[in-house]
Amino acid sequence: MYSAFGRPFQPATVPLTLMRTRLVELADAPALMNIYNPEVIETTVSFDLVPRTLAQQETWIGAHLATHPCIVAVNEDDEVGEVGARGDLILGFALVSPFRDRPAYATTVENSVYVHRQARGRGVGERLLRQLVATAGESGFHSLIARIVGENDGSIRLHEKCGFTLVGTEIEVGRKHGQWLDVVEYQYVIPINRR
Ligand SMILES: CC(C)(COP(=O)(O)OP(=O)(O)OC[C@H]1O[C@@H](n2cnc3c(N)ncnc32)[C@H](O)[C@@H]1OP(=O)(O)O)[C@@H](O)C(=O)NCCC(=O)NCCS
Repeated sequence: MYSAFGRPFQPATVPLTLMRTRLVELADAPALMNIYNPEVIETTVSFDLVPRTLAQQETWIGAHLATHPCIVAVNEDDEVGEVGARGDLILGFALVSPFRDRPAYATTVENSVYVHRQARGRGVGERLLRQLVATAGESGFHSLIARIVGENDGSIRLHEKCGFTLVGTEIEVGRKHGQWLDVVEYQYVIPINRR
């Protein structure tokens, strides 16, 4: 039914027009876990090898409530999504994390985006990524780095469409499901926050 990286096999995809984004909340933990864990278990898009527990997902959200934002897309169009905080329907999430520990890297972040399998191909990932870039800019960050497994064409195309450019390829740096995995690195430099 699903390709590991592609969209759900749907005869026609209708863009989700009624959708909003908001910052993640602690009570979104089950929704995020249910969106994320299938990718950990079945695909190579995440380099995690073990699915998250609810407690780990809550701790993870806690880390993204302060300095490094995570946003979620909320469905106001139809019934697709995982139930989130306040009973709304979560279609996906996008986040920034610290890029490196050393202090001079503090204005650079690594970004990531995950969309519910039944919501793919309907504009959710693009909406999340564009909003994430805006949120990162408002938070004072200067540069976003996306590290994408080389076989993840959907994520590569999404990042290129949103203005990220290829800055390098790391050869066979990952190993999962018995495969050596390349990582391609894409970057977006936020035109504001240059000083
Ligand atoms: C990659 C992912 C986030 C895309 O989300 P999405 O909501 O399906 O993407 P959208 O519908 O917003 O598509 C926006 C653009 O991305 C590109 N794109 C998205 N999925 C694609 C696919 N399967 N193949 C090729 N291009 C794709 C296209 O350029 C598309 O624009 P278009 O429709 O005008 O051609 C989603 O497939 C996903 O969550 N995958 C699993 C997790 C993952 O890989 N995350 C990234 C880790 S680095």
